[in-house]
Amino acid sequence: MTDRNKTSEKKQGLAGQAARQCALAIREGIEMEVAMGSLPGFVGLIQLESSKGLCYKLDLSGVGPLFVKVLEDEGKAENEASLSSRLAGLGIGCPVPLAVEGRVLVRDYLGAATAAEELDLALKWGDVASASRLCKRVAELLADIHMVDSSCGHGMVVNDLNLKNFLVSSNCSLSIIDLAEAGYGDQPKDLGALMVHILTHRPEFTDISAAMADSALDSYFTKAGKLWDVTEASAGLEEALADASIRRARPELPGLASWYVSHLKERAEATTRRSHHGAED
Ligand SMILES: Nc1ncnc2c1ncn2[C@@H]1O[C@H](COP(=O)(O)OP(=O)(O)OP(=O)(O)O)[C@@H](O)[C@H]1O
Ligand SMILES: [Mg+2]
Repeated sequence: MTDRNKTSEKKQGLAGQAARQCALAIREGIEMEVAMGSLPGFVGLIQLESSKGLCYKLDLSGVGPLFVKVLEDEGKAENEASLSSRLAGLGIGCPVPLAVEGRVLVRDYLGAATAAEELDLALKWGDVASASRLCKRVAELLADIHMVDSSCGHGMVVNDLNLKNFLVSSNCSLSIIDLAEAGYGDQPKDLGALMVHILTHRPEFTDISAAMADSALDSYFTKAGKLWDVTEASAGLEEALADASIRRARPELPGLASWYVSHLKERAEATTRRSHHGAED
């Protein structure tokens, strides 16, 4: 066995032990530091920011850091693990789950920033080109996910789609995380949710927001091998806006985005016209 295989086997074993210790801590009400502290080579445990549950960075000597997440229930942990394995197996950027135990999921901890943080940084420096490039890459990754088992706009969907659920690693690779709510469903609404997050990323609804959203939509449809579909893209965006206005208690959102919806329809119609002319030439 090569050294690399030995390390990965060791990591897999430790991830399994970490998942079991974490599940035990939750079940028995043991302090997480205490439960994890008994793992071989324990170096440290840091709780990470999470709005829905508990997430940790676990450092163990001899293997790279691990990400440990406690989900709402076992079904969500299983769901996230199985869909992540599916995507990773297809070569789509997504960290492979190393262990699942009850509500606990363990994967590699990536030295990464979220796409939301990267976008903040680019916009702070006025680097619109980098910001648009990042939106393009996120949309391409979404197109890759949507192409899995897809038929007529129905197929794999992320559902909990926001810019914090895309990680940009230090080697610039892009990964999707947080597939607890993912499943199969309406893809235009999933794409619409991405558009809403781009358009409302602060400062929201500016010309730069529109440029980033355009860049995302163009690359999504180019990657998915489709023409801009006005009905599909704008209906998905309108649905996602209605959802976001309720979830964020911001009834003004659909009104604020109406100029972008009109702009989208105009662009889509122009593209369709161009393609018809092309077909006639
Ligand atoms: N593999 C990883 N490596 C490094 N950081 C990660 C990893 N997975 C997640 N994170 C960080 O932890 C945060 C929470 O992860 P995740 O979204 O999977 O959990 P969550 O409980 O659903 O959180 P939230 O409710 O905030 O979305 C991410 O936004 C990201 O900053
Ligand atoms: Mg998340």
